[in-house]
Amino acid sequence: MSLLKLRKFRALTLLFCIITFTMVLFNYTLRDPSAYFFKYAFRLSDTVFPRGPCSCRRCVAETEDDPWFAERFNQSFHPVMSRKGSVLTDDTYRWWQWLQAERQPANFTEVVDKLFQIIPDKEFYADSRPDRCRTCSVVGNSGNLKDSHYGPLIDASDFVIRMNQAPTEGFEKDVGYRTTHHLMYPESAVDLGNSTCLILIPFKTLDLEWLISALTTGTIKYTYLPVTANIKANKDKVMVYNPSFFKYVYDTWLEGHGRYPSTGFLALMFAIHVCDEVNVYGFGADHYGNWHHYWEDNLLGGAFRHTGVHDGDYEYNVTALLADKHKIKLFKGS
Ligand SMILES: *[C@@H]1O[C@H](CO)[C@@H](O)[C@H](O)[C@H]1NC(C)=O
Ligand SMILES: *[C@@H]1O[C@H](CO)[C@@H](O)[C@H](O)[C@H]1NC(C)=O
Ligand SMILES: *[C@@H]1O[C@H](CO)[C@@H](O)[C@H](O)[C@H]1NC(C)=O
Ligand SMILES: *[C@@H]1O[C@H](CO)[C@@H](O)[C@H](O)[C@H]1NC(C)=O
Repeated sequence: MSLLKLRKFRALTLLFCIITFTMVLFNYTLRDPSAYFFKYAFRLSDTVFPRGPCSCRRCVAETEDDPWFAERFNQSFHPVMSRKGSVLTDDTYRWWQWLQAERQPANFTEVVDKLFQIIPDKEFYADSRPDRCRTCSVVGNSGNLKDSHYGPLIDASDFVIRMNQAPTEGFEKDVGYRTTHHLMYPESAVDLGNSTCLILIPFKTLDLEWLISALTTGTIKYTYLPVTANIKANKDKVMVYNPSFFKYVYDTWLEGHGRYPSTGFLALMFAIHVCDEVNVYGFGADHYGNWHHYWEDNLLGGAFRHTGVHDGDYEYNVTALLADKHKIKLFKGS
């Protein structure tokens, strides 16, 4: 090669490198302006740096970057109860039984034993891997979802988690079509589609007995309120929120604020422990500062913030803090 040609070749190569580098840089910056993009660029090469706990751009379970989170996040607690995980310490049993005190609770061990003859006994979601990127939408019931047009965004996640009476029919544009998990307690139960997992949040032993009954004979029609006797749900997809996890959420994440956590907060904590990326919709007040459900017009009808049981302000502060630390993404709605 002549000297001139060599110079030209070098110049072209340099130009090519600069363009490629700029494009990569631009691409990462565009997709995530606030990201530490070097970390993710380097993550492409596993041989140089060890891999993170998941393959999303950010992983919830990453505890190295935040001491506040690391101090609280404890994966030895499983949100879903299995037969093996159903043994409660005396302390946990006492706390849990106190939530909605029963006069004469049935024998917990025996009820659990009967329950697992009907619902699956599995270690659900103990499957985090460096090559997994499970995205989740947690959909609360706030009126701030009205006219949000979040539907398609919510549906795009692997898991779509809803709670209590939340309807989708007629609100799809704002809340989406899909539901993979639906959290409820006996007094807030609704029928579910065949592909949705029912997650029962039990507040007393009677709630577990209700679940057995509601999936079979339908004999229990009353707890402290009239409850639905039979529930439509796929028995292969019924799970129970673990009382030990329930207490961990209350002690560790709410530091004892309120009497017990709200369903919304319990759903959020479920998501943080089974998902790699968590997007949160329909939490908090709407832009007028009103607290109501998205399916209710009457603003006075659903003042769920002032139940006296939950510390909504404290829960919202923790939620906002998780968002500040990029552990969750909070979509504030309209
Ligand atoms: C997680 O919880 C278990 C059981 O209570 C406890 O033994 C362990 O020390 C906790 N781990 C962290 C990191 O807090
Ligand atoms: C509950 O039942 C189990 C097994 O039948 C028994 O071992 C246990 O002592 C009972 N617990 C109470 C508090 O009665
Ligand atoms: C519901 O799902 C189960 C599998 O989980 C399947 O066996 C059953 O046929 C489905 N039922 C309906 C009505 O689609
Ligand atoms: C929530 O955070 C705000 C601002 O940091 C603080 O003023 C308020 O006292 C907190 N509320 C609760 C209930 O902790």
